[in-house]
Amino acid sequence: MQFFVDSADLQAIKDLADTGMVDGVTTNPSLVAKSGQDFKTLIAEICDLVPGPVSAEVTALDADAMLKEADELLAIAENVCIKVPLTWDGLKATRSLADRGKKVNVTLCFSANQALLAAKAGAAYISPFVGRLDDIGADGMGLISDIRQIYDNYPDLETEILVASVRSPEHMRAAALIGADVATLPPEVLRSLIAHPLTDKGLEAFLADWKKTGQSIA
Ligand code: G3P
Repeated sequence: MQFFVDSADLQAIKDLADTGMVDGVTTNPSLVAKSGQDFKTLIAEICDLVPGPVSAEVTALDADAMLKEADELLAIAENVCIKVPLTWDGLKATRSLADRGKKVNVTLCFSANQALLAAKAGAAYISPFVGRLDDIGADGMGLISDIRQIYDNYPDLETEILVASVRSPEHMRAAALIGADVATLPPEVLRSLIAHPLTDKGLEAFLADWKKTGQSIA
């Protein structure tokens, strides 16, 4: 399973990349706005930090304009992955980019049929937003299960399931159990995956006992 960081915060991405756990990065216009940085400069800097795919989202609404923006973004770095919204124009742009061998992340997915369409359009990734579905009382992880089953029914569909809008370690656990290909995690959620009070307690006890031996290893 691949771990992406869902952030446009360079320092947070760098800190996590240093752990060796980061396979890619996803951004969106809201995260870019929050960073206060110039979009293209920011994407270039993230692409330098992480060799894996870095999703940069187009903001045009018609396919031709999306493709124009995609070319600008693709020129930034080899590892830019174009992110498009799940609209008919987005799917049209996806097909055109996929035919050119470019990776596309189709975002704002909230239904299994949308995920099926994205896969047919040749998306490299589909991004279902589990947290936002949970927010409206729907079953975010149920959608991941449905998409997993549908994609597995048709091995010619090569799109990877990129679980987005992940809000908690429980989302991550469920996504991994279902067999999602990728999860994109806000930095604080990724960091929280390691936490367990028994790990802290156990380490404290081991170190206290070790001190009693008076030994040192190196
Ligand atoms: O990158 C898209 C996605 O992960 C958004 O998450 O928490 O704003 O629903 P959230």
